[in-house]
Amino acid sequence: MAEAEAQQRGGYAEDVSAERLAEIGLRFEVDGEIATITLDRPDKRNAQTFATWSALARIGESLPEQVRVVVVKGEGPSFSAGIDLRMFTPEGVPGQGSFSSAVKIGDAEFEQRIRQAQAGFLWLRRPEIVSIAAVQGHAIGAGFQLALACDLRIVADDVAFCMKEPALGLVPDLTGTKPLVELVGLAKAIDICLTARTVHADEAMRIGLVEKVVARGDLSQAVRDKAAELLSTNRDAAVATKRLLQGARSRTLEEQSVAEGLEQAARIKALFP
Ligand code: ACO
Repeated sequence: MAEAEAQQRGGYAEDVSAERLAEIGLRFEVDGEIATITLDRPDKRNAQTFATWSALARIGESLPEQVRVVVVKGEGPSFSAGIDLRMFTPEGVPGQGSFSSAVKIGDAEFEQRIRQAQAGFLWLRRPEIVSIAAVQGHAIGAGFQLALACDLRIVADDVAFCMKEPALGLVPDLTGTKPLVELVGLAKAIDICLTARTVHADEAMRIGLVEKVVARGDLSQAVRDKAAELLSTNRDAAVATKRLLQGARSRTLEEQSVAEGLEQAARIKALFP
């Protein structure tokens, strides 16, 4: 059903076929209300390409309606070593070009490509789902930002976050700057990004970057447990509550109170029709 609908919306189901995803280095599995996206290029430390980001966007567009929890994880020793460094070479990534070819396409088209890449990250914040990044080992650059794109981060004790972009002459542009500032505050975000230093598990926990640190061997179980806890609440109430929480920062207390009342009125009507 979801596949047929997705095809009507432009053939996305075809783009997220297991074969196509395997070529890109991704896996996507749905088990009832839980979807799992696995970065699956461990030999290259799950380095990401434009194809990775397009595929993530397609997965978001064709996500089956029953899914409530999306887990994002990486195969092998590292969650993700960030952008595929071949992008910085003149040869680039086969079929996807390089930065030196990308600058020749014109500003508008280049900005459009960045927005397309960002689409792969933005959907992970939808109110209809809760996304969990399960992070072990290195999460560098685009890898760090992918973890930041998720609602929650559960990490192994060997986690090593690094926002390497400024060290390479770039800015973090895969939607990571806002969640980073919101999680750790402006001063700490400046410290982390402008030094491109590594944040290890203890500090990540202390500054609020992650929800939980576990031993490496316990990561999968910890994520499963969290998913089960998240699924234990009422689905519609969870969606409405996430919407409220997401809007809280940009509203005054009075505005937020009004928003709470509106959501609650809808809930009560649904519960007592
Ligand atoms: N792009 C492409 N290939 C990569 C990348 C990457 N980002 N990271 C690692 N690889 C490859 C290596 O070239 C190596 O390939 P090979 O076996 O064919 O030689 C393989 O993955 C394993 O890498 P090692 O360095 O041997 O693995 P190790 O576990 O010792 O180190 C680490 C892991 C720390 C992640 C290291 O690979 C590294 O520093 N990678 C580059 C990180 C980086 O600068 N990313 C860009 C950030 S900026 C951004 O994302 C926008």
